[in-house]
Amino acid sequence: MRSRRLATPFLLCLFLGSTVLAASRPPVGAPRGIVVAPEARAAEVGLEVLRRGGRAADAAVATAFALSVTYPLAGSLGGGGFAIHRRESGETIALDFREVAPGALKPRLFLDDAGRVVARRATDTGLGVGVPGLPAGLARLHAEEGILPWVDLIAPAIRLAESGVRLSPFQAAALAREADRIRGRQGARALLFREDGSALVESDRLVQPDLARTLRRLARDGPDAFYGGPVAERIVDSVRREGGIMTLEDLSSYRVERREPLTGAYRGHPILTFPPPSSGGLAVLQILGLMERWDVGESGPLGSRTVHLMAEAERRAFEDRAQWLGDPDSVDVPVARLLDAAYLSRRAASIDESRATPTGEPVRPEMTAEDGETLHLSIADARGNVVAMTITLNFWFGSGIVASGTGILLNNQMADFTLSPSTPDPYGLTGSRSNIVAGRKRPVSSMTPTVVLHPDGKRPRLVLGSPGGPTIITTVAQIISRVLDHGMDLQEAVDAPRFHHQGVPNRIDHERFAFSEDVALGLRQRGHFLRERASMGSANVVGWDPEKREWQGAADPRRDGVVRGY
Ligand code: DON
Repeated sequence: MRSRRLATPFLLCLFLGSTVLAASRPPVGAPRGIVVAPEARAAEVGLEVLRRGGRAADAAVATAFALSVTYPLAGSLGGGGFAIHRRESGETIALDFREVAPGALKPRLFLDDAGRVVARRATDTGLGVGVPGLPAGLARLHAEEGILPWVDLIAPAIRLAESGVRLSPFQAAALAREADRIRGRQGARALLFREDGSALVESDRLVQPDLARTLRRLARDGPDAFYGGPVAERIVDSVRREGGIMTLEDLSSYRVERREPLTGAYRGHPILTFPPPSSGGLAVLQILGLMERWDVGESGPLGSRTVHLMAEAERRAFEDRAQWLGDPDSVDVPVARLLDAAYLSRRAASIDESRATPTGEPVRPEMTAEDGETLHLSIADARGNVVAMTITLNFWFGSGIVASGTGILLNNQMADFTLSPSTPDPYGLTGSRSNIVAGRKRPVSSMTPTVVLHPDGKRPRLVLGSPGGPTIITTVAQIISRVLDHGMDLQEAVDAPRFHHQGVPNRIDHERFAFSEDVALGLRQRGHFLRERASMGSANVVGWDPEKREWQGAADPRRDGVVRGY
């Protein structure tokens, strides 16, 4: 009797101990249109555009302009990104508005006399600034798929810049963290610091009259107002004063690339994702292509078998990334070969279900950039058009350089190049000559805007993406697997703890409480090294529910993301 009494709570504990996931709130439903974005005021701008009859592309453009004001730490006009746009009819485009290296950029500019990479030169000087792509990218998306007047899509951003926005606790914390790095940069002080030199804090009002003026010019003259004339002159001047070599010609020759999306499928669901220079789409298709060989549904989303197999798939995708990825306009990236079924079969055959690939201790330096310094928005309209768009300055506040008198924060995206094959980038990623820095080249990215369709190939099951450097790739792959393998709803899949293996260093990084003691033990026994780290990614996801006949949205609780729909 006594032992039975004890046994009940004991068994209950065991049961609860294995339910690692907390209950999530349900995804937000919206029968007509939906915006999931990293900041509330910008999401509301996008929703208003949808209500007025704008299409997903219009809403994406208006939301992105609003984010350049309300979320400048990642969304400033001085950055770049990728967007996937899928029409209800099925036609899909991939717009690449990634930053381009100034024409005169060379590897040796980042090296000392002994050929070693000079610390922080690519992250904290004018040499790290690539030619921004965001204004051109938004203009191109609008030209291809928008129907509302361009000026109307910028007007809300101008109002927000003039009236000012209060810094959220999250943004204030990011600024506090980066303050010492960027305080001394051109123009940063006027934008982000108080008169006494201390950084703005939570609830301080960020009023941006210079940015409002720049946005007015863009509204009036389109992207020419950015890539030529006084704004371009100020960008070049500020970059050069910080040691850069950008020219007016670099700006005037910037071009958006319209690319063919990468296509694949997982468990019968067609996938459309981003091609090189993103490494993300290829890596996600490789990871899922390997995972498809096992039924991981039976071992749970965070069971040791699932985590082991996923981590092994991830490390293989990152090995290929390091070896093969580069700007497809400069180097040959063997995409078809890397996704070939026979190749994936050989890669899968090298995975031992009971042992981690023995590649030794995790010896590489710790990653320095750990947080999500990018943003992702997912949008759907009443017709069924969708946009997945990821935008970045690279680090929070990019290089910290603000082009004087324009309110434009400039990226430090040149740090995403391989500066030397023997030196990992700030995310610990290694690369080959394929991603070596060169003039007019685009650095490899991990950004992975992606659309997963229902098996009938009609409406999207998932429209998604995330910030997080290399963890973008694992975040996107894990959300897709959690929905399609484990039957999670969108919010559960977004909320669930994440883990990440990028080959080098040889270890599984994981969020706090991602693994129970049993699971951690099971992974260590297989030969994995584990490390707990800060949260990974911030995925904003939309999907069509064919039974309820509504869009559903899930914002990531790890950041300020919100869902707005109607
Ligand atoms: O394009 C890339 O892969 C990076 N510049 C993205 C940066 C990012 O997500 C920052 N988060 N850690």
